[in-house]
Amino acid sequence: MEEKLSVNHLLGIKNINQNDIKLIFKTADNFKTVINRSIKRVPSLRDITVANIFFENSTRTRVSFELAEKRLSADIVNFSSTSSSVSKGETLIDTVNNILAMKVDMVVMRHPAPGAAVFLAKNTNTQVINAGDGTHEHPTQALLDAYSIKEKLGDVKGKKIAIIGDILHSRVAISNILCLKKLGAEVMVCGPATLIPKYIGSMGVKIEYNLQNALKWCDVANMLRIQLERQDIKYFPSLREYTMQYGINLQTLQNLEKEIVIMHPGPINRGVEITSDVADHNQSIILNQVENGVAIRMAVLYLLAMKKTENVKN
Ligand code: NCD
Repeated sequence: MEEKLSVNHLLGIKNINQNDIKLIFKTADNFKTVINRSIKRVPSLRDITVANIFFENSTRTRVSFELAEKRLSADIVNFSSTSSSVSKGETLIDTVNNILAMKVDMVVMRHPAPGAAVFLAKNTNTQVINAGDGTHEHPTQALLDAYSIKEKLGDVKGKKIAIIGDILHSRVAISNILCLKKLGAEVMVCGPATLIPKYIGSMGVKIEYNLQNALKWCDVANMLRIQLERQDIKYFPSLREYTMQYGINLQTLQNLEKEIVIMHPGPINRGVEITSDVADHNQSIILNQVENGVAIRMAVLYLLAMKKTENVKN
């Protein structure tokens, strides 16, 4: 029997189990060979229409989902809040129900409110993929990050991953912690005390305020951007001071007595959390993450579509 996901939606890493993650990785392996062929398209989602609904800015994630859908031959509708009736006062449910009335099968949504994807899945009759809900979760980013670590280091289990930067406002940090822990990695968060939330220790991660200690400990450093757009008060004196304490430059990398892998979900603020020579260094897998993002999103779309066929049959 064909393997299936345990869920009908991808709302967060919290909602999926280790078998789901392994199945997504195995399916992504196949799609990765597809996207590296000269003919990159397969007919798997030919009868499916996907709506990409983005209520928050995005470049990488939106393009990555769109490419993944195109490679699977899905029909696509795109819409963002600036060009929608949301700015005219329409509610989220009304907006989405109007789109669904046009016979859309799946919704990929990014929204600034934590819980928006769960809310949508509960209140509409469609499959939902969370493409980032405020400071809550960003499951496909965590999946592509863990997949890229596995590809680079052979396995995620037992590896030491340091997530460095603005943990407080980062959905990437939360989803990464959940995903890496489910795969048996050791996880550390590192940043200024003001950007490390108090509850984080209960997620089973180590906490370190000193960058050098974190780098000496880890196999992989995942560098996060300071989410200035989500900060209503000052969490540190200046960006310059942040860079001096938590930024990685070539010297920092060369002073370590071992090679570590550098990751970043993007968008990079070159010269703030990471210098250009580190971002473009051969220890950096930032562009591999972007490539793997398409394969991972193809796998998620495909496996969820398979669940839908199963539900219709039953
Ligand atoms: C991340 C996001 O939107 O949460 N970016 C992304 O999806 N590639 C991280 C960020 O914005 O810093």
